[in-house]
Amino acid sequence: MPVILGIESSCDDTAAAVLVDGHIRSNIIANQKVHEQYGGVVPELAARAHLQNIIPVVDQALSTANIDKKEVNAVAYTLGPGLIGSLLVGNSFAKSLAMSLGVPLIEVNHMQAHLLVHFEKSIPDPSFPFLGLTVSGGHTQLVLVSSPTEMEVIGQTLDDAVGEAFDKAGKMIGLPYPAGPFIDKYAQKGEPNIPFSMPKVPGLDFSFSGFKTNVLYFLRKQQQMDKDYIQNHRNDLCSSVQHILVNILMEKLEKAVIKTGVKEIVIGGGVSANSGLRQALTKQTDWNVFIPPLSFTTDNAAMIAVAGDFKYRNNNFGVLDRQAKSRMSL
Ligand code: KG4
Ligand code: ZN
Repeated sequence: MPVILGIESSCDDTAAAVLVDGHIRSNIIANQKVHEQYGGVVPELAARAHLQNIIPVVDQALSTANIDKKEVNAVAYTLGPGLIGSLLVGNSFAKSLAMSLGVPLIEVNHMQAHLLVHFEKSIPDPSFPFLGLTVSGGHTQLVLVSSPTEMEVIGQTLDDAVGEAFDKAGKMIGLPYPAGPFIDKYAQKGEPNIPFSMPKVPGLDFSFSGFKTNVLYFLRKQQQMDKDYIQNHRNDLCSSVQHILVNILMEKLEKAVIKTGVKEIVIGGGVSANSGLRQALTKQTDWNVFIPPLSFTTDNAAMIAVAGDFKYRNNNFGVLDRQAKSRMSL
């Protein structure tokens, strides 16, 4: 009955989770409110907030799971990719804790974990090979996953990530950071009646920078005619932004299915919480779709513990002198 403590600190969420025999027993996340006023994550402030949060978050994860630290068999932590200062806090803490408890360390790739969380034992498992769509504030990737350790990126964004596109469009509409969840909420009250244009990117890659400019110029033009345009059309604007971004993702996913012949589809990352994307996927009756529970979508340590469990079972352990990696391929 292995007990794995997962620790995640790659961006602005300090998280810890306890996995017992493949089941998540606790999944604690401290969000950092300090970034809201800046409209985006400030790396130096994120690292400082991780320092303040990490001990209480780990304590809470252990007590919620009703596990004593002496019962932990391994400490899994996010090695990368992410903000270097943020990663360093989690990395140093995980190493010190593993050393003091005399248990192995497990190094986890954050982007792999967004997909591998689907192997938590309380939810249905996808089978290999599957197509992964990882959509977050920093990434937009189509991944062909042949096994827990064999992942090939077959398409990715050439510029911004889709979460960033949600956040930046939301900022223009006057929504707080991160705007993705707000766009999702207001979209449900509106109609997608503003025809933002689809980017034309060949193959399986994505691009979202043209979309941002599209929204900016559209809003400028409308505001010249009606200074209250945004207030008066907030719900339709959100619905239209969500509609186009979901269409962009679905178009590439459809292409990837045709190209690879793989119909087992797994989504992960913060944007996989989006209700428009979830609905669009459930309409694809020909595919076998795996949508994570909301608590496994935005950054969390449950996914780090689940991904760590694969390595634990293969005795694939980390070393104390490993450096945190701000960039890390799959
Ligand atoms: O995976 P995540 O928590 O952190 C990164 O690794 O980036 O993803 C955060 C991103 C943000 O851009 C946020 O706006 C977006 O996920 N997001 C959403 C929703 N919930 C979170 N975007 C659209 N709809 C949502 N419901
Ligand atoms: Zn993430």
